[in-house]
Amino acid sequence: MKLLRAKDYNDMSREAAKLIAAQVILKENCVLGLATGSTPVGAYKQLIEWQKKGELTFAKTVTVNLDEYCGLPATHAQSYRSFMRENLFDRIDIRPENTHLPNGAAADPEAECAAYDARIEAFGGIDLQLLGIGHNGHIGFNEPDEHFTMPTHRVRLSADTRQANARFFEGDPSGVPEFAITMGMRHILQAKKILLVANGAQKLAVLDRALGGPVTPHLPASLLQLHNDLTVIVTE
Ligand code: F6R
Repeated sequence: MKLLRAKDYNDMSREAAKLIAAQVILKENCVLGLATGSTPVGAYKQLIEWQKKGELTFAKTVTVNLDEYCGLPATHAQSYRSFMRENLFDRIDIRPENTHLPNGAAADPEAECAAYDARIEAFGGIDLQLLGIGHNGHIGFNEPDEHFTMPTHRVRLSADTRQANARFFEGDPSGVPEFAITMGMRHILQAKKILLVANGAQKLAVLDRALGGPVTPHLPASLLQLHNDLTVIVTE
């Protein structure tokens, strides 16, 4: 594992953007695994800036996102599809058809999950997976549980997660969808490289436990200890 200490959020974002840009430059048709949430927004801003300056192109890049809320149509303001459009996709030269998220409004979520895994497999897996981490140690929406779930699956969001994400739903945790579809641990762990970004003291504390303690499904991020190309960027 490589641990980089950034002096602040901007520094963290720039370092993360550099690694993502390097991946896109090295392999223009790479598959990027992307995350939503507050933490990666600064890195996305930096990538947008470099793309606008012509230093980078996403014309051949494919993206697969980690997760999507169930029950929200893709056009809903708080869907992760909308989030990604607003914070990245609509502001770079990526082809919309190359951007993939689970369909949270699918009538048959199980079939949607299987199809999402099949799509990732057809791409040959993920070259670089960007991750944030939840206060409860979740990655994607792989919530603390008695076991790790390997395939993409529908998950009931924990009370912690709904509380943490209430800020996007007028501060009301009951407004946060109860279920989501998340990429499972298999495709996250099979990504050739993983880049995890964490900002702030609370995140540092959970990361410490995840990367320094036992590997346990009670702290899903702990499984990342088994990955052999993991870079973690934290703010001091
Ligand atoms: C989002 C995701 C989540 C977030 C995590 C941290 O796609 O997969 O695991 O990365 O909840 O969220 P923030 O960055 O908002 O603290």
